[in-house]
Amino acid sequence: MPERKLRIGIIGDGRRGRSHIQTITELPDLYELAAICDPAYAHGKQPAKELKQARTYVSVRELLSAETLDVVVISTPPETHHIIATLVAERGVPMLIETPLALTRAMMNVLAGAIAKAGVPAEAGENMWRRPVEQLNQKAIAQGLIGRVLRVSSYYESAGSDSCYHTMSLLRTYAGADVEAVRSFSREFPLDPIPGSEEKPSEPIHPMAGLTEEKWTQAELRYANGVLGSCTYVTGWMGPLRRGHPRFMTIEGTEGFIITGDADVNTLRRVEGFTPRDYAKRVAFQKLGDREVPVRYYYETHPEVEYRNPFSDRFLTDSGAGGVPSDGIARAHELQSIFNTITRGADSRYSVARARRDQELSITIHEAAGRGGWLGSDQLPDETEWERSQHEVFRKDWGVDPIKELPALLKRV
Ligand SMILES: NC(=O)c1ccc[n+]([C@@H]2O[C@H](COP(=O)([O-])OP(=O)(O)OC[C@H]3O[C@@H](n4cnc5c(N)ncnc54)[C@H](O)[C@@H]3O)[C@@H](O)[C@H]2O)c1
Repeated sequence: MPERKLRIGIIGDGRRGRSHIQTITELPDLYELAAICDPAYAHGKQPAKELKQARTYVSVRELLSAETLDVVVISTPPETHHIIATLVAERGVPMLIETPLALTRAMMNVLAGAIAKAGVPAEAGENMWRRPVEQLNQKAIAQGLIGRVLRVSSYYESAGSDSCYHTMSLLRTYAGADVEAVRSFSREFPLDPIPGSEEKPSEPIHPMAGLTEEKWTQAELRYANGVLGSCTYVTGWMGPLRRGHPRFMTIEGTEGFIITGDADVNTLRRVEGFTPRDYAKRVAFQKLGDREVPVRYYYETHPEVEYRNPFSDRFLTDSGAGGVPSDGIARAHELQSIFNTITRGADSRYSVARARRDQELSITIHEAAGRGGWLGSDQLPDETEWERSQHEVFRKDWGVDPIKELPALLKRV
């Protein structure tokens, strides 16, 4: 048992913030949910129902002035991360920052600089590699079940703002090395109206039903250890046209391969005595009251490989079963990790530098698409076309520059 619980505050009571709140309520031995802050409360938004005793605030400054917190979760829109993280760091409060770390390298540098200057613990809430199935796959690879990794690939949607940082994170984890260079290309395709969206314009099938085009990006990645990578993503995967299409990744090795992703595609194939054998992902559950929670994930290889869910005594799932938000186990992993860093000085399991690199690679893919040929991140201009457009959107929305006018912005959150 930890010596004491940490007083945690949530900044941003939106979709992800609420998922964090639900996960925190399942970690009462680690955390006391002390406070939550969202400017939308000033405009009638109701706080999450799990809040109980937690106090609510409408600005980060107010929250940090009124509360003594051991840690905060920053789950606000990405363009605000560098501002809020700077304020939090200046007050000496540790933080778990949702991904992407920030949008552009300039914003990430502000954030990373403030955290380094303050010397506060910080972790990025990158969840993909922490998911139980992906941890099982990492163990299978470490145990040599598919031999030496040769190639990694992904088929996914954009992670928002036409970026692919999640994919970069997981592919690097599987490749076992950093990316040296990328080459890529993108193409936009016009979309016909989504069937049904004209008949009931007041009831869009999905927020993305109004899309008139979709953009596909394909990138080739060269890893420092010789592994070859390929990443394909599309802007509108969540829209009606693609909904239900599995997202998946593959890891090919000298002795087999793994397919991992949605819709039960998870399989490990090994060549055993010149015969290919397929092993489906298996999950064992146990009852917790009237609910079921996953206990272990495994492949029935010889020897068997398994990942035991360290949170199997709590109602957290990865699938979203039972009406709780999906990804609960990965989020508990994040929250436990920052807890261990704060209370025991353990190393961060996903550092700010690592999350910065994921987004930098996503930016490099954009830049490479406009150029042709291989491009290393060290060949990026100070501000890429994509970063310029993100900064422009920020200036339009906020009326000031996100970097030059940071001191003024610190007073606005
Ligand atoms: N790791 C993942 O898989 C994953 C999934 C979803 C979202 N996210 C990340 O989580 C973050 C939040 O995304 P979301 O989907 O919850 O967005 P959202 O729009 O649902 O919620 C954001 C909330 O932040 C609030 N907010 C805005 N400015 C604020 C400020 N200055 N102080 C406090 N609160 C403020 C908004 O009012 C809103 O309630 C983003 O960084 C997003 O990229 C990560």
